[in-house]
Amino acid sequence: MRLIIHENHEAASRWAAHYIAGRITARQKNDKPFVLGLPTGSSPLEIYRELINMHKEGKISFANVHTFNMDEYVGLSADHPQSYHHFMMENFFNHIDIDRRHIHILDGMAKDTEKECRLYEEAITAEGGIELFLGGMGSDGHIAFNEPGSSLRSRTRIKNLTEETKIANARFFGGDISKVPSTALTVGVGTVMDAREVLIIVSGRSKARALQAVVEEGLNHMWTLSCLQMHPKAIIVCDEDATEELRVRTVRYFKDIEKETIGVYHRETGGER
Ligand code: GLP
Repeated sequence: MRLIIHENHEAASRWAAHYIAGRITARQKNDKPFVLGLPTGSSPLEIYRELINMHKEGKISFANVHTFNMDEYVGLSADHPQSYHHFMMENFFNHIDIDRRHIHILDGMAKDTEKECRLYEEAITAEGGIELFLGGMGSDGHIAFNEPGSSLRSRTRIKNLTEETKIANARFFGGDISKVPSTALTVGVGTVMDAREVLIIVSGRSKARALQAVVEEGLNHMWTLSCLQMHPKAIIVCDEDATEELRVRTVRYFKDIEKETIGVYHRETGGER
């Protein structure tokens, strides 16, 4: 696992956006679709903004990109303002040249949730698997909605949300926890692990304890993102605040081995703005 530490959230997001854009553009040369896994939440918002800006500046096209979102609340229709469908359209898809037929998001209104989840996995397989899965992390170390205790081999399924997650997400529901759905459809840890590459953005002190567990402690279903320790190509990009609970030695180690990566990026983009 690589850990790339930036000064602040904006810098980490810009780096991640440029990294994703580079991967998509490289694929365009051979005409094959680029299959991208995507998250919601506040963590990726700045990445989406930067990708939209790059698109508006003519630096990137999403015409060959096919997407699979991580999760969706059960019981919220696509046009519900708090649904992840709505979130993705508002914050990303409406502003880029992606073909709407290439967007996949789990249907939170599906009557047969088991079938919906099975078909989602089949659709991912039919597209040749996910090339790059972008994700965030919950403050309890969860990935997508794989709450603590989730099987590290889990596939797409329905999950109960923990109190901690509902409290954290109540801010999107006017602060009213009773409005946050109690269940969600989510890709499994195994689904994320099958992606050829995983890129996670982590910011802020509220994620520091979880980041410490994921990076410095062992593989553990109580911090489901620790699965990345078993992934052959995983990157966590974070800000300084998120590293607060890591050992000084760990931070120095990763800064040292990634200094060339960050140096090249600064040279190519003209440095942090
Ligand atoms: C939810 C989402 C996750 C996301 C997490 C953190 O639980 N299902 O995909 O990573 O929230 O959200 P935020 O980025 O707002 O901190």
